[in-house]
Amino acid sequence: MAHQLKARIIGLGSYLPKRILTNQDLERMVETSDEWIVSRTGMRERRIAAEDEFPSDMGAQAALSALRSADLRPEDIDMIVVASMSPDYISPSTANLIQAKIKAENAAAMDIQAACTGFLYALSTARAFIEAGIYRNILIIATEKMSAFIDYKDRATCVLFGDGAGAAIVGSRGEGLRIDTLCLGSDGQLADLVKIPAGGSRNPATEATVQQGMHYFQMSGNEVFKHAVRRMSMASRECLAKAGLEETDVSWLVPHQANKRIIDAIAKNFNIPENKVYQTVHKYGNTSASSIAIALNELMQEQEFQEGEHLLLTAFGGGLTWGAAILTKVGV
Ligand code: ACO
Repeated sequence: MAHQLKARIIGLGSYLPKRILTNQDLERMVETSDEWIVSRTGMRERRIAAEDEFPSDMGAQAALSALRSADLRPEDIDMIVVASMSPDYISPSTANLIQAKIKAENAAAMDIQAACTGFLYALSTARAFIEAGIYRNILIIATEKMSAFIDYKDRATCVLFGDGAGAAIVGSRGEGLRIDTLCLGSDGQLADLVKIPAGGSRNPATEATVQQGMHYFQMSGNEVFKHAVRRMSMASRECLAKAGLEETDVSWLVPHQANKRIIDAIAKNFNIPENKVYQTVHKYGNTSASSIAIALNELMQEQEFQEGEHLLLTAFGGGLTWGAAILTKVGV
């Protein structure tokens, strides 16, 4: 009988731009306060890419660091999957640009768009190609320059987002984090809750779309909040059940970093103590698709994991989209 391949993350990397935008900076830009932002979101600062720094640049840096951690060369990569809702261009794909930057000359390349759930959608795509035996090493990258789509006059959105990139190498051999279960979902009926209305073929750039600010990110924050907690809890429950695990079997929760109140609500639903919930929301804000990838990389650098320990990842975003995954630490 053929040996069943099990996909695993064998390398991780991330990149954060240098510039820090603090709550105090935002107080000088819009009518807001450090107190409002901290109490409603848990955010204190976020990173903002330089004017000449784009998702492909940040993604390439994260990719190179993931390659180093997996001890692989760019030419070992068979496919690049990029998740971004703020790509360099509509076309070509950001994956194409990163392929050229890192010289991954043997790789196929494509982008996917699942807003803040993008990293889990990319992970699921990589897992499918690995477990079907089609490819050996897949580089997935989540990279966002949300600041390019944010209206820094709109206090309801400008305090929330930051820029950054995370990357992972998915293969079938070696030490790493085995992908045990991965559950994805979407509800396109609620597509209007999170959107960038112009810039696509429905509303191409015109003087009017620019004047009306239709190229900026828009969100019904309050509505999204309720769906976020419900959907991430649902997907996490489904993933735990599929893996035959109880919530007490989870060593660490690594949630999408949209808002500390959302994270706390999920942790409470699963009885996971705060010191086992990995958070970056205070220092990076919401980096959309990149947030779980960045958090996972930092967690793996900070903590020693024993074989058999389980991590629960969960994300939610525009689309609407959501998902969860159970990863298990495995040896060589
Ligand atoms: N500073 C001060 N006051 C503000 C600010 C601000 N930055 N922003 C809004 N307010 C005001 C509002 O105008 C409102 O005032 P009003 O009562 O006089 O009308 C009041 O604060 C309350 O506003 P709400 O929107 O009800 O505040 P809420 O407690 O819901 O917090 C937030 C808003 C932080 C956006 C929250 O709803 C949230 O986190 N939502 C989920 C976001 C999310 O999960 N996004 C993930 C998907 S994003 C993606 O896919 C890229």
